[in-house]
Amino acid sequence: MRRWLTLALLGFALAALFLKSDAVKAAPQTQAALVKPVDAAPTPNSLVGSETCALCHADLSKKFDSNPHSALALMHGGKGVTCESCHGPGQAHVESGGDKTKIFDFLTATPKVVDAKCLSCHLGTHANFDRSAHGLAGVGCTNCHSNHNAKTDLHLLKIAEPKLCYTCHTDVKASFSQPFHHKVNEGVLACSDCHNPHGTLQDKLLRTSADQNAVCTKCHAEALGPFVYEHPPLKTEGCTSCHFPHGSPNPRLLTRNNVNSLCLQCHTASMNFSAPGTPSFHNQANQYQSCTTCHTQIHGSNANVDFFK
Ligand code: HEC
Ligand code: HEC
Ligand code: HEC
Ligand code: HEC
Ligand code: HEC
Ligand code: HEC
Ligand code: HEC
Ligand code: HEC
Ligand code: HEC
Ligand code: HEC
Repeated sequence: MRRWLTLALLGFALAALFLKSDAVKAAPQTQAALVKPVDAAPTPNSLVGSETCALCHADLSKKFDSNPHSALALMHGGKGVTCESCHGPGQAHVESGGDKTKIFDFLTATPKVVDAKCLSCHLGTHANFDRSAHGLAGVGCTNCHSNHNAKTDLHLLKIAEPKLCYTCHTDVKASFSQPFHHKVNEGVLACSDCHNPHGTLQDKLLRTSADQNAVCTKCHAEALGPFVYEHPPLKTEGCTSCHFPHGSPNPRLLTRNNVNSLCLQCHTASMNFSAPGTPSFHNQANQYQSCTTCHTQIHGSNANVDFFK
């Protein structure tokens, strides 16, 4: 009984709608001008409003009230984003009783076309997307975001980080399972603390710190200094000349399993450790002692040219 009533009401509403759209056709200069965007070319397809979409897409429309595109947008600009801001004018689709080919369908559109739609509003904050490794590889907005079926509360992500990223970057997962690793799987950091998936001006989609330094110094400011006596590779080759950024089998995320072999990567050639007059502790053949037991301030020092305490 209720079902009949609902159908009857729906029929009534649609009938009213069709009457209304006929009226629009009859007087295109007046009513259509009110609902069309100013720069739209004359077309038989015009806007019908979100209430109309809700007649047939009820569940999806109800959920949309809490979508950041309604809620957040209202808060920010005072203007909510409506169904047709993304899907385009819906009149032809409605009058055909739901012909999929008569409305913009994100599910079948190519990534490039989808991205252009989204970027028509989001270009301001994501201006580098087309040039990014993701943009160039054909990874599009809807590979990571879902407007209607997001599984997270944050940023309309399809699934939360880091799982989202691991779905494609399976090899990276292994490095975060190393004995020493940045606690991404534990939720202390996110991939996007260091990378901007929408692109940056750096290689590897890397972010920078607020003062435009390497991303690492956003959280480890003390490692960068400034120091009176700097250890040059910090600036010339960067943190990753000695540390793996994701994870490492070695303590302190070092790239070598013992500190000495790390140091000797650069210091053998320039220092003659066995030359007469060299302190014996520098002779690796005589004595094996971790370089950083003496050169403790390895990132740089304000007190000592040789990085002692
Ligand atoms: C008269 C009922 C009706 C109205 C009103 C209506 N739709 Fe639809 N819509 C449908 C039906 C039915 C389908 C499914 C067509 C199919 O599966 O072939 C559909 C499909 C779609 C699709 C494609 C879905 C897919 O699975 O690919 C989109 C997008 C869509 N509608 C958006 C809208 C928007 C936006 C509005 C408002 C402007 C709207 N619809 C109004 C009936 C309607
Ligand atoms: C008509 C303009 C418009 C279009 C088109 C549009 N957006 Fe938005 N989007 C907004 C506005 C306005 C907000 C509200 C919050 C804000 O100002 O960031 C928003 C919010 C978002 C947010 C949430 C931001 C947060 O902090 O949680 C995401 C994610 C997003 N949009 C992704 C997309 C994607 C993906 C597309 C394409 C499928 C898209 N948008 C298309 C205008 C638009
Ligand atoms: C590879 C996955 C991925 C792709 C592709 C992607 N995003 Fe995102 N997006 C994210 C993640 C992760 C976040 C949350 C972290 C952050 O802000 O970077 C996010 C956040 C956002 C936000 C909210 C925060 C902000 O920076 O404004 C908006 C809006 C957004 N994305 C829009 C888009 C648009 C538009 C596209 C396509 C041009 C897109 N995204 C492509 C993963 C992606
Ligand atoms: C911010 C842009 C945006 C807005 C606003 C928007 N959609 Fe969508 N719509 C999408 C995207 C992107 C998809 C592809 C699936 C997804 O990401 O969830 C989609 C998919 C759909 C589908 C296909 C079925 C499904 O569940 O995926 C329908 C139907 C639909 N939208 C109707 C609507 C209606 C009705 C409204 C207004 C209440 C609306 N859309 C508002 C971007 C948007
Ligand atoms: C839909 C698959 C997909 C998802 C999801 C995805 N990526 Fe990617 N990513 C790619 C592809 C494809 C490339 C380009 C080819 C490559 O370099 O591996 C890429 C490139 C990258 C690069 C640059 C690699 C380089 O060598 O320049 C980084 C960094 C990256 N992605 C991080 C992320 C992060 C962080 C996330 C999660 C927020 C993520 N990706 C989600 C597919 C994806
Ligand atoms: C602590 C900062 C940090 C975090 C967190 C981080 N990355 Fe990275 N990532 C980097 C740096 C730095 C590089 C560049 C390494 C280089 O150039 O030698 C990099 C490189 C990459 C690359 C390029 C290929 C490679 O392995 O060198 C991909 C892909 C990538 N990261 C994906 C991810 C994903 C996915 C996550 C989350 C699961 C993540 N990253 C978390 C800092 C980070
Ligand atoms: C978003 C903040 C953040 C960023 C960016 C970041 N780290 Fe970390 N880092 C942490 C946290 C949190 C820890 C864990 C500290 C702990 O476990 O006590 C950590 C731990 C470390 C450790 C191990 C310290 C120890 O005592 O064992 C090293 C080495 C390190 N980070 C280097 C880097 C490098 C190199 C980069 C850039 C590629 C970087 N970090 C970027 C937050 C960050
Ligand atoms: C020349 C090699 C080298 C470079 C370059 C380097 N580090 Fe280190 N770092 C080390 C060594 C060696 C240790 C371990 C010191 C020890 O054994 O006590 C270390 C330790 C750390 C620690 C652990 C806490 C601490 O201070 O002992 C953090 C965090 C860290 N480095 C961050 C960074 C960051 C951020 C950068 C880039 C700005 C960087 N490192 C560049 C060699 C380097
Ligand atoms: C990536 C190359 C590189 C690595 C790795 C490296 N250094 Fe250096 N180090 C340099 C350069 C370049 C200088 C500048 C002076 C020079 O040319 O010898 C320097 C300078 C020094 C100085 C100061 C010399 C002086 O009196 O001017 C000390 C002490 C030092 N390093 C110790 C270490 C120790 C200990 C390690 C291992 C934890 C290490 N370095 C790892 C490149 C490196
Ligand atoms: C027992 C403490 C100790 C250990 C261990 C040690 N050093 Fe030194 N290092 C010193 C002292 C003391 C000096 C200053 C010597 C001088 O000024 O004549 C020095 C000087 C240096 C210098 C500057 C040399 C120059 O010619 O100006 C470098 C580079 C250096 N050490 C690298 C290393 C490396 C690499 C290791 C590990 C293989 C190491 N040190 C282990 C105590 C130590």
